[in-house]
Amino acid sequence: MDISGPKPELLDRFAAIVGENHVLRDPEDLAPHLVEGRGLYHGVSPMLLKPGSTEEVSAILKLASETGTPIVPQTGNTGMVGGQTPRAGGSDLIVSLERMNRIREVDPVANVLVADGGAILADVQKAAEAAGRLFPLSLGSEGSCRIGGNLSTNAGGTAVLAYGNTRQLCLGLEVVLPTGEIWDGLRRLKKDNTGYDLRDLFIGAEGTLGIITGAVLKLFPQPVGHQVAMAGVNSPDDALRLFERASNLCGTALTGFELMPRIGVEFTVRHMEGVRDPLSGPHPWYTLIDISTSDSPETAERMIQALLEQGFEAGLVQDAVIASSVAQQNALWHMRESMSDAQKPEGGSIKHDVSVPVSKIPAFMTEADKAVLEAVPGARICAFGHLGDGNIHYNISQPVGADKAGFLARWREVNAIVHPIVLAAGGSISAEHGIGQLKRDELAAIRSPIEMDLMRRIKKAFDPAGIMNPEKVVSLP
Ligand code: MLT
Ligand code: ZN
Repeated sequence: MDISGPKPELLDRFAAIVGENHVLRDPEDLAPHLVEGRGLYHGVSPMLLKPGSTEEVSAILKLASETGTPIVPQTGNTGMVGGQTPRAGGSDLIVSLERMNRIREVDPVANVLVADGGAILADVQKAAEAAGRLFPLSLGSEGSCRIGGNLSTNAGGTAVLAYGNTRQLCLGLEVVLPTGEIWDGLRRLKKDNTGYDLRDLFIGAEGTLGIITGAVLKLFPQPVGHQVAMAGVNSPDDALRLFERASNLCGTALTGFELMPRIGVEFTVRHMEGVRDPLSGPHPWYTLIDISTSDSPETAERMIQALLEQGFEAGLVQDAVIASSVAQQNALWHMRESMSDAQKPEGGSIKHDVSVPVSKIPAFMTEADKAVLEAVPGARICAFGHLGDGNIHYNISQPVGADKAGFLARWREVNAIVHPIVLAAGGSISAEHGIGQLKRDELAAIRSPIEMDLMRRIKKAFDPAGIMNPEKVVSLP
């Protein structure tokens, strides 16, 4: 620990708030909380606190503000941009919401569910299902990510096309401010035009403005019909044209439209347990199509068949499979969701979580591929993602046999090739993973001075002592 870190007496005062049983101090216990899944950031912290209530979070933040102690909120530790990782200096205390994991209430008539910030996403989904409702947020990490983190990062996932991202799924919040004050904004209203939208400021703020300790979430009817198909296509352009037909044919029943390259499918078949090649022969690209209907199962069946027929007739679909059981549907989705993990055994992967207007995806990919391959000959481009949202995970695996560290050292250089192409297409350099530490400086470079100034003024207004997840998203001069 850095000598500027909190003194032992101060650490004891923090520990007393939650009780010594709910504190981690041992380096071995702390270790998993100091790294994130991509291994890009390794932080240092003397202590992790596990409060059991909103009042305990409040007491922690009050003491932190009074003593100038930096705090890093952490939920499932599944973030992708280092927002949840303490800094390397050793003075940040981690506040984990893992004990605050209750589903407080489910109201299927009002279609709302109220949860603690530390509730695991899969538990929220299950509680909704038990009440005959759907909570549609769906992510590869849903078994471990927690709703406060999903809200703080405005997580996207695979159901955004139909239901929106986490921001659209939230009606109200309870937040502990950096000063320790508690904002009870647990409102359940679809209509509430009463001044500035504080809720939307906390969503996507990545824990820099406060800690989300509770949320009112929107529920939806459970679909009656559900169909999942995988179609082999020749190009992103054909995939886009198939998407256009799917939108026209299915309207709001189109609940997922994902794109995968052959190389990504090969990675999953090679490295992920139980994943099989989905079609009898290889295809350059694959689309995963998900349809959910509210009237009858037959409608979903008719839609998927009509779409594939149209796709075959128009020469867009080369081969396709419709899942004939829930297990097969899950297997197709499992393949898509494990695409990220399947890249790890292939060595270093330089990532871009980008979005462009959906109609520009093919042109973006063509231009980016050309530029990247010129700079890194032999790079294996594994661009996959949520085509329907215009969100591509433009990931680049190292050339076979290349030195991993040497390849990863080119991360910024490669970003500097891809991101300008994204921006020129009117896109975003962070579609769904956020800013955290990874893209903080880039954000400041691409956003206008007025936007950055407004963000810094908001940060200072909420966190005058500068203790909330410092140097994430925006840094203050
Ligand atoms: C996904 O859609 O699979 C994730 O957002 C991408 C990732 O894990 O890198
Ligand atoms: Zn994604």
